[in-house]
Amino acid sequence: MKVLVIGGGAREHALCRSLSLDPDVTALHCAPGNAGIAEVAELHQVDALDGRAVADLAARLAADLVVVGPEAPLVAGVADALRERGIPVFGPSAQAARLEGSKAFAKDVMASAGVPTARSYVCTTPKEIDAALDAFGAPYVVKDDGLAAGKGVVVTEDVEAARAHALACVSQRREATPAGAVAGDGRAVIEEFLDGPEVSLFAVTDGETVVPLQPAQDFKRAHDDDQGPNTGGMGAYSPLPWADPQLVDEVLRTVLQPTVDELRRRGAPFSGLLYAGLAITSRGVRVIEFNARFGDPETQVVLARLKTPLAGLLHAAATGALAAFPPLRWSDGAAVTVVIASHNYPGTPRTGDPIEGLAEVAEQDGPDAYVLHAGTASDGSGAVRSAGGRVLSVTATGADLATARERAYRAVGRISLDGSHHRTDIAAKAAAGA
Ligand code: AMP
Ligand code: GLY
Repeated sequence: MKVLVIGGGAREHALCRSLSLDPDVTALHCAPGNAGIAEVAELHQVDALDGRAVADLAARLAADLVVVGPEAPLVAGVADALRERGIPVFGPSAQAARLEGSKAFAKDVMASAGVPTARSYVCTTPKEIDAALDAFGAPYVVKDDGLAAGKGVVVTEDVEAARAHALACVSQRREATPAGAVAGDGRAVIEEFLDGPEVSLFAVTDGETVVPLQPAQDFKRAHDDDQGPNTGGMGAYSPLPWADPQLVDEVLRTVLQPTVDELRRRGAPFSGLLYAGLAITSRGVRVIEFNARFGDPETQVVLARLKTPLAGLLHAAATGALAAFPPLRWSDGAAVTVVIASHNYPGTPRTGDPIEGLAEVAEQDGPDAYVLHAGTASDGSGAVRSAGGRVLSVTATGADLATARERAYRAVGRISLDGSHHRTDIAAKAAAGA
């Protein structure tokens, strides 16, 4: 099977790594990729938001499967363009990707499907904002309706900060990118605060059959002890020893299957990766958000534990053949990933700094620990430099979380990147049995 992966983050590096280990994969391509992905796949340049350009590239490479990593190309209709050309694609249509692209749409689907989520109001005026903030009280949760790379959400005790964020969301006009992806869309979603730990549960689906993967936990805040601003994710681990063993079955029954069924009923079948961001509250499981693609950095740990070859699974989803797919096989062990971020991330990151220590990790820690690249680029002389906010996802496996965690941090310790920061508490509580 010839596979083309679209994207260039650590999630795509994790996807490419797993695909490169699948004996059925005869050629692996990635666009645009990054310095790490270049070691396992052939890189190509393409405007990832231009469906026609992606379909042309896939046709030229005679790809049997295209895997779209990030949300922006999905929301822009890249999967539709591929399907129109008869190219199997792992990723939902633009219509189905609205589950991630519009929080208001997701709320509407959940209401129709009876899926438990936070009560919410969609606001477009200052008056509606004040009424919604009053209705829920502190802590306040205010979200930008459109795509915001995990950074459009403010959770605060401070009503003025909540109001200011909501006003900023509604004052944004629909700013379509050249390819039609929506940034802010002039609506704020204000919702009830959900207490309790968060879980990310991914499911592979062909629009009918839903195959859940193993749950993971992400660390969204920039600094230790969940301090600092929200980020795209600073680390993750799997499995979750503290979670109810019935959790996956329950979420399949109450969240994943009803959502997939509802989208099919609406004529927008969801084929690809359905990501449920969940809060395990004192009143039961609630959906915080849906995403229409693999999560980053959770994918790094989930795929580290998946033993079933990845290409066949994604191809079965892309071609409507999941019902006949054999049960997934998982390692009993654990995986931990720690994100190394650039100076100033999640603000405007500083880039272009040299990264040292990558060879040492490969020599001394492999194969139990390895570095997945996110924002990196080769500078032509063979050196690798930072090129984005999240730079590396240092991933490790082990018989248990404590071992995987120790290996991940040992590898992190060998890497130097001037001005970078990382959390030191990824999986700490779970590994200690807390
Ligand atoms: P989202 O972009 O919707 O995933 O939100 C980002 C993060 O904000 C989540 O992972 C939560 O940590 C937090 N968050 C979002 N919605 C809520 C909520 N209703 N209650 C509490 N925290 C929330
Ligand atoms: N780790 C959060 C996300 O991928 O949206």
